[in-house]
Amino acid sequence: MVYLDNNATTPLDPAVADKMCRFLREHFGNPSSLYPIGHAVRDLIQEARENIAKQLGCHRSEIVFTGSGTESDNFAIFGILDAQPEKREIIVSAIEHPAVLRTGNYLEKKGYKITYLPVDSHGIVDLGALRDALTPNTALVSVMHANNEIGTIQPVKDVVRIAHSRGTLVHTDAAQTFGKSEVKVDDLGVDLLTIASHKIYGPKGVGALYIRKGTNIAPFIHGGHQEKELRAGTENTIGIVGFGEAARVLGERWKKDRDRIERLAGRLKDGIETSIPKVHFNGHPEQRIKSTLNFSFLGLEGEAVLLALATKEIYVSTGSACSEGSEEVSPVLAAIGLRPEIARSSIRISLGRFNTDEDVDIVLRELPEIVEKIRKISPFDPEF
Ligand SMILES: Cc1ncc(COP(=O)(O)O)c(C=O)c1O
Repeated sequence: MVYLDNNATTPLDPAVADKMCRFLREHFGNPSSLYPIGHAVRDLIQEARENIAKQLGCHRSEIVFTGSGTESDNFAIFGILDAQPEKREIIVSAIEHPAVLRTGNYLEKKGYKITYLPVDSHGIVDLGALRDALTPNTALVSVMHANNEIGTIQPVKDVVRIAHSRGTLVHTDAAQTFGKSEVKVDDLGVDLLTIASHKIYGPKGVGALYIRKGTNIAPFIHGGHQEKELRAGTENTIGIVGFGEAARVLGERWKKDRDRIERLAGRLKDGIETSIPKVHFNGHPEQRIKSTLNFSFLGLEGEAVLLALATKEIYVSTGSACSEGSEEVSPVLAAIGLRPEIARSSIRISLGRFNTDEDVDIVLRELPEIVEKIRKISPFDPEF
């Protein structure tokens, strides 16, 4: 198998699997219990929180565990709106993950004003539009750190400077950068930041929201005292322990991983661009996560390429996991100005820790032939 869909999810790191198995065998206590078997689990949760905080450069008290990256995004938006009920406006970029974009659509129906900031053809958000959209009623600006489909890295520091100068809080979804590049909350200057365990070789179903100390945010789930009463419910202890271990491993190796993965991705990009005609690279030439490669192969359906590769046990995705299997064109590719037929001809290849040179060789051997074959039987031939 050649797994090249690491932006969708990553395989569990063996060290994480070991830690989780040991935990499952040795611990079952409720972390809220007052006796030792509860304390032991509480300590392990704190250790995980500390590991994550260390990577983000914040204090562990600023990390709240959630059930997913999606939940962290929802928590940031609803939590800030609930804490400032007089403010009825938020600003998001037009290429956010559906966890933010569709939350915006929902809030619009509830009577909030949502501004969707346009992006340029590389996916960079329009800062002038941000300046124009900010009003005293804006509760929050949410602009993702890097895009999951095209990898473009947003000028989050500039977004923060502009929003803070108008007294508005900033959230960033860093699910795609945490583990791939330096993500330090003080460097970015954000008030809230989303991360997800399964993007960093940890288990699925657990995420975290960084909330800067002193930020006025309302609880997201009401009930017990867990997570400082912001997110009630007995913790996903096994998930949190795995997430913490994944963060610890990250600290040891992310820079080495990054350099190796970027070299592999560079080889793959060059190879595809030289061996396949009529291919268009989507995303920013420089300001992007280098492990994400999004290509349009003119004259065919990206889904056909995906399925043909899958028969060879090579796994990639089309523009967006959410629009996979539907007629809907990726909102991200539409926002950067791709015509629908070009957007539909796209695939995303995302590399990760466990990819090798051999994987790249296999793709460069199989993909040109697949594209050529599908083009021959495709009914349309659009031009750029
Ligand atoms: C940028 C971004 N935000 C949020 C999410 C959602 O995370 P989760 O799958 O943990 O809900 C993803 C995952 O696809 C993502 O890429």
